[in-house]
Amino acid sequence: MSIQIPRGTQDILPGDSEKWQYVERVASEICRNFQYKEIRTPIFESSELFMRGVGDTTDIVQKEMYLFEDRGGRNLALRPEGTASIVRSYVENKMHGLANQPVKLYYTGPMFRYERPQAGRYRQFVQFGAEALGSEDPSIDAEVLSLAMSIYQKLGLKKLKLVINSLGDLESRAAHREALVNHFKTRIGEFCSDCQNRLEKNPLRILDCKKDRDHELMSTAPSIIDFLNEESKNYFEKVQQYLTSMGVDFIVDPTLVRGLDYYNHTAFEIMSNAEGFGAITTLCGGGRYNGLVKMMGGPETPGIGFAFSVERLLAALDAEGVELPIDQSIDCYLASLGDEAKDFTVKLLNDLRIEGISAEMDYLDRKIKAQFKSADRLKAKYVAVLGEDELAQNVINLKDMSSGEQQKISLESFVEHLKQKCQ
Ligand code: HAM
Repeated sequence: MSIQIPRGTQDILPGDSEKWQYVERVASEICRNFQYKEIRTPIFESSELFMRGVGDTTDIVQKEMYLFEDRGGRNLALRPEGTASIVRSYVENKMHGLANQPVKLYYTGPMFRYERPQAGRYRQFVQFGAEALGSEDPSIDAEVLSLAMSIYQKLGLKKLKLVINSLGDLESRAAHREALVNHFKTRIGEFCSDCQNRLEKNPLRILDCKKDRDHELMSTAPSIIDFLNEESKNYFEKVQQYLTSMGVDFIVDPTLVRGLDYYNHTAFEIMSNAEGFGAITTLCGGGRYNGLVKMMGGPETPGIGFAFSVERLLAALDAEGVELPIDQSIDCYLASLGDEAKDFTVKLLNDLRIEGISAEMDYLDRKIKAQFKSADRLKAKYVAVLGEDELAQNVINLKDMSSGEQQKISLESFVEHLKQKCQ
């Protein structure tokens, strides 16, 4: 039997890969406008990084990590997300000492989670994310949210819902935590074993449980909003004020809990409202993580960021019927007639390409009619025909495929001529 692609992964074939390139290019350009710089970190890291960073009561760490031991006996993990790696790199490279603060970074690359594959959920998926480290100004929270929304909007998505919440500071969270433990503890036996474990370790995670989400105690659980202290409340209000002034629409949802442990203050998700988008509507998630840098051995440093997967973004574009403006055409198809002309074409084609003109020719000894058909399929803007006659006259016949206009151009000036036209 032939070997098949691993479950939950996909090949991105030509025809689709252009969409990926386009999306990544637009997102990177917008990051540049917002002054976020690209960072690239390894695809595998020490597994402890995620156990500590993402949190050992999360689904990601408990059930979804691809763990392996290398030949040197090191415990490694394929990265399930980017934030922990970025924070590790920030600490390791002492970025807190850089002149430009806050440090604003973006990244893209494959992430790995051993989840049950379904539409919009893969075991290998590509995240695009951004992180801002070193500022606790609520304007940065609003900036990060606006950055994520701008990327989606620039790509043509309209049916979006930005949901925000505050998870408060340490003091607010401690008060909320206690209220949650009291709320669930007498009936925790009715919950799944994961939730029973979470009760003491991290009761907030109970609210995010997929198995017990319909339990009656879930809807009556104490809301973090009621436990925010003055400072956290003011912070959250300021974030909202900035979002409003930027014209970024949002909804406050006090039940929003993120699936990773490192968050405090602002947490958010962006969902798709598009009809037929499917069961998983979350496109993007993120939030503030003021304790993470310290936990990773760095100085006390606030941080905030987001990540979205390109897979879900493309699915949302599909659901909204957005066609990306991808140019699949080529500048010139070089058709030739006869052996001598073919030999000359090989060189000419190379000259065109080196000069920045996208060009193609026939490699299968096809008749001229079939060569024109290929040119059509490739959406060639120009077709240049070189036959024995042209060669004898030292010219090439150039046809503009949109106007039908034909011109004889001297072979010496052909590359320059076409370059002018294609610029
Ligand atoms: P997350 O919510 O785990 O957060 O993932 C962010 C996004 O990655 C999701 O909203 C979704 O678009 C995509 N995603 C997650 N799992 C899958 C999957 N199995 N298949 C396809 N797409 C998926 C984080 O990863 C945080 N690091 C975000 C962050 C950055 N927070 C602060 N900074």
